[in-house]
Amino acid sequence: MRIDHLATNVCVLLGSVRPNRNGERLAKYIVNELEKCDDVSVQLIDPKDLNLPILMARYDDIKDSQECPPSLHGLQKALTACTSLIIVSPEYNHAIPPAVSNTLDYFSHAEFYFKPVGLVTYSVGQYGGVRAGSQYASYLRALGLVGVPRVLSVPEVQNTLDKDGHVLVNSLRASFSAFADELMWFDAALSAQRETGLPGHH
Ligand SMILES: Cc1cc2nc3c(=O)[nH]c(=O)nc-3n(C[C@H](O)[C@H](O)[C@H](O)COP(=O)(O)O)c2cc1C
Repeated sequence: MRIDHLATNVCVLLGSVRPNRNGERLAKYIVNELEKCDDVSVQLIDPKDLNLPILMARYDDIKDSQECPPSLHGLQKALTACTSLIIVSPEYNHAIPPAVSNTLDYFSHAEFYFKPVGLVTYSVGQYGGVRAGSQYASYLRALGLVGVPRVLSVPEVQNTLDKDGHVLVNSLRASFSAFADELMWFDAALSAQRETGLPGHH
C-alpha cells in the first residue's frame, strides 16, 4: 500500500451489531492493515459500543439537550476529524443494514462534506453483498461523501478471515491493497482541495 501524504485519519464503521457478527473479523483486518501505515491514524466506529437509539432527531437538533445520547458527541468529533471513511457493510435483505444508516443519519452533513468514502461489503454467501453495494451510491451521495470507484466485496467472509481478522484466503490482500491505494489517493486529493474552501454554502 502506497501512502505519500500526511495527516490521514480514517474512520472504519462496522455495519453490524449482531452477536457473533462476521463483520468484526473484516473490520479488524482493515484496522490492523491501516495501523501498519506510518502516516495513517485509524479509528474503529462500532455501533455496538455507541448503543444509539433508533434515530428520532438529528445531532444538530439535540446536541445541546439532555436527549442527546452521550456517545453521539464523541462520534461527531471523530467524524469531523476524519479525512476519509470506510464502511464495512453486510447486506441485509439486499439492502443497507440499519447499523450503518442509524449511525450516519444522525449527521447532516458537515461531518461528511467532501470526504472520500470506501465501501467494503461482505456476506456469508457467494455475492459478497454487492446488491447492498449498489444501493450505497445514492445514499453516500446524499450524505455528501465522495464514493471511491473501487468497492471491495468479500464473499464467504467466514472462510476468508478468522475471528481475529487473520487472512485465510490470500487474494484478499491484493484486493484490499488496491482498494486502500485508491482511497488514499482520494484522501490526499480531497484533503488538499478542502483546504482551499468548500463550494456553495457548506
Ligand atoms: C437480517 C439479515 C438479512 C440478510 N440478508 C442477506 C442478503 O440479502 N444477502 C446475503 O448475501 N446475505 C444475507 N444475510 C446473511 C449475511 O450475509 C450473514 O448473516 C452475515 O454474517 C451478516 O453479517 P454480520 O454477521 O456481520 O451481521 C442476511 C442476514 C441477516 C441477519
